[in-house]
Amino acid sequence: MSNIEQTLSIVKPDAVERNLQDQIKNEFKINGFKILKEKKIHISKDEAEKFYKVHESKPFYNDLCAYLSSGPIVVMCLQKDNAVSENRKLMGATNPKDAEEGTLRKKYGISIDKNSVHGSDSVENAKIELDFFFKD
Ligand code: CDP
Ligand code: MG
Repeated sequence: MSNIEQTLSIVKPDAVERNLQDQIKNEFKINGFKILKEKKIHISKDEAEKFYKVHESKPFYNDLCAYLSSGPIVVMCLQKDNAVSENRKLMGATNPKDAEEGTLRKKYGISIDKNSVHGSDSVENAKIELDFFFKD
């Protein structure tokens, strides 16, 4: 049975700064994801705070929001069978040091904060996050 899902991917500022967005997009394509929508944007700190609201109580919240709004990002709507978990698998662990060989964060991530990509962590959150960036 197929289970087509859509998920949000973000190429974070550290990766856009190194001009890695095309390479990362290609990784999605060769791993069977369709890129249904994409745009390059530079969000404000206020918008980053809204996006990462679930992390409000965490010690890293302020730095995280400052970071996501520090430069351009590329946001994408990805589609694939089980896209949410497939994307999380392709991304690898939050800390690039712990990420498995071949994952995006292992290949491109610099540190736990500059870990190059974001991916929704559940189907429910994917809907909320896709709406956040792509609701017209
Ligand atoms: O991005 P992911 O879902 O793997 O991790 P998260 O726990 O939802 O955290 C969101 C983001 O906060 C991570 O991707 C890291 O960039 C950042 N973070 C951090 O800077 N320091 C931590 N100790 C944990 C997360
Ligand atoms: Mg997360």
